[in-house]
Amino acid sequence: MFVSKLATTAILLATAIAGPLAAVSTSGDESAQLTKRADGIHLVNCVTYSAVIFCSDDSNCNFNPSSGNECIPKDHLNSKGLEIWEGTNSSCTFSTGVTFFWGIESNAQSQPNFSVVGSGTNSLQGFTIRKDDQHVMYTDGNGHACQSIYYAL
Ligand SMILES: *[C@@H]1O[C@H](CO)[C@@H](O)[C@H](O)[C@H]1NC(C)=O
Ligand SMILES: *[C@@H]1O[C@H](CO)[C@@H](O)[C@H](O)[C@H]1NC(C)=O
Repeated sequence: MFVSKLATTAILLATAIAGPLAAVSTSGDESAQLTKRADGIHLVNCVTYSAVIFCSDDSNCNFNPSSGNECIPKDHLNSKGLEIWEGTNSSCTFSTGVTFFWGIESNAQSQPNFSVVGSGTNSLQGFTIRKDDQHVMYTDGNGHACQSIYYAL
C-alpha cells in the first residue's frame, strides 16, 4: 500500500513537471489534431497528379477515397502535373455536383505545419485551411503515395 502510494505520488509529480513543457511544445499541433474530428477536405499530391479529397470524418481518412469523394483539379498545374495550391483562388467540382473553392497564401509552404494559410468554402459551409505535415494519407491504385499538403476544416 505504502509502496504503491509512493509510486502514484512519483507519477503525479512527473506528470506535473512534464505537463506544462509538453503543452508548450505541442499545443499548436494538438489543437489542430483535436479539431480534426469533423468533415474535412485534404489537398493532396500523389506524385503525378493532385487531388481534393472529402472525408466525412477527418480523424479517419487515411484510405483510398471513393471516386465521389475525390476531385482532380485541372487549373494551375505545374510541369509535373501537380496543382500549384499557393497564391491562387481555385476550385474543383466533385462528381456529386459539390464544388469546393479555396484560396491559399502564396507563402504557405514557408509557414510552420498546421498554420492557418487560407480559407475555403462549398455550398454548405466555410472552411479554414491549414498547412499539413505532408504525411502519406494513402496509396492509390497505381502505387502513388498521396501526401496531405493542406487540410480544410
Ligand atoms: C482570393 O480572392 C480574394 C477575393 O477576391 C482575394 O482577396 C484574395 O487575395 C485571393 N487569394 C489569393 C491567394 O489569391
Ligand atoms: C512539418 O512536418 C514534417 C513531418 O513531420 C517535417 O518533416 C517538416 O520539417 C515540418 N515542417 C515545418 C515547416 O515545420
